[in-house]
Amino acid sequence: MKRILLINGPNLNRLGMREPNIYGEKTLKQLEEEVTQFALDINTEVSCFQSNHEGEIIDMIHGAEHTYDGIIINPGAFTHYSYAIRDAIASISLPVVEVHISNVHAREEFRHTSVTAPVTVGQIVGLGFYGYKLAVLAILQK
Ligand code: DQA
Repeated sequence: MKRILLINGPNLNRLGMREPNIYGEKTLKQLEEEVTQFALDINTEVSCFQSNHEGEIIDMIHGAEHTYDGIIINPGAFTHYSYAIRDAIASISLPVVEVHISNVHAREEFRHTSVTAPVTVGQIVGLGFYGYKLAVLAILQK
């Protein structure tokens, strides 16, 4: 069985309560259950982790190397400025797919830049929770 680590970054624990017009009405728990079930149906195990802290996210990325086959990450606002998370992704050999629930390109200028995307295998934006499922498929292709 393939194993994928799902990392959601800051403020994504507020899904369902946070700007529902942008991020929808469903909670992080629902997201994690949906993605976990989708993956299980194709014989893949997903482990879920959420943190509001940059260092914790970096530690999870480092620790994933010998346990998982790939990482799905939504770094939240860290996407736009965390060179430390970028370097952590670059430091491991696993395929990493970046996901954003909202279409960041249709939003404020500062969201148009991702400092992390260049060290991932690809980025999926604007497709809501479905983007995470596509990311599972993408990692299985690697
Ligand atoms: C987000 C987009 C980011 O700009 C924002 O800071 C988030 C969520 C998304 O999933 O659309 O926290 O990553």
